[in-house]
Amino acid sequence: MKQHLTVVDHPLVQHKLTLMREKDTSTASFRQLLREISHLLAYEVTHELPVTTKHIETPMCPMDAPVIEGKKLVLVSILRAGNGLLDGILELVPAARVGFVGLYRDEETLKPVQYYFKVPKNLEDRTVILVDPMLATGNSSAAAVDLMKEAGARDIRFLCLLAAPEGVARMKEAHPDVPIITAALDDHLNEKGYIVPGLGDAGDRMYGTK
Ligand code: URA
Repeated sequence: MKQHLTVVDHPLVQHKLTLMREKDTSTASFRQLLREISHLLAYEVTHELPVTTKHIETPMCPMDAPVIEGKKLVLVSILRAGNGLLDGILELVPAARVGFVGLYRDEETLKPVQYYFKVPKNLEDRTVILVDPMLATGNSSAAAVDLMKEAGARDIRFLCLLAAPEGVARMKEAHPDVPIITAALDDHLNEKGYIVPGLGDAGDRMYGTK
């Protein structure tokens, strides 16, 4: 994966994203759409995963057939909104290892504060996909990548639903080696650090906490 930013403009992704953006979409529908979209984004983010072969027998003959090196993949959710993407991707790649990074955004400074960190071992040998639906200021995303690199990860990708130009620029400056895959690049951030037009607070919309 060479490009720094990939926007997945598949019509199914765009259609589902529009439904998610609508303010009257229910919590249940929002969650279901996120689950569906995460499958489609997972398809994109995994398309260069290393493949190995397994010796099998078809009803016709033996063969060496391709399989993903599932244990090589680590999905890391940036809590709490990342869990929506994580759950959908795990349905497609159930053998993946999973990590969690707890960061909340200080509403005044907009800077990330860490409260939880638990990731699998031997990250240097694995592909890490960091998931967070919203790449807004990029502060928490860049901090999460810092933590992953400190823990040994070398091959990292960042998967989100919406990205703001400010967040993409921040990530490019801090981590030019980390490709970003998103369903849309939105217009800008507002003064509170929300993506515009965006979809509001992803965690609140996913869990009905507002
Ligand atoms: N986090 C969200 O949930 N929404 C935004 O628009 C920005 C950050």
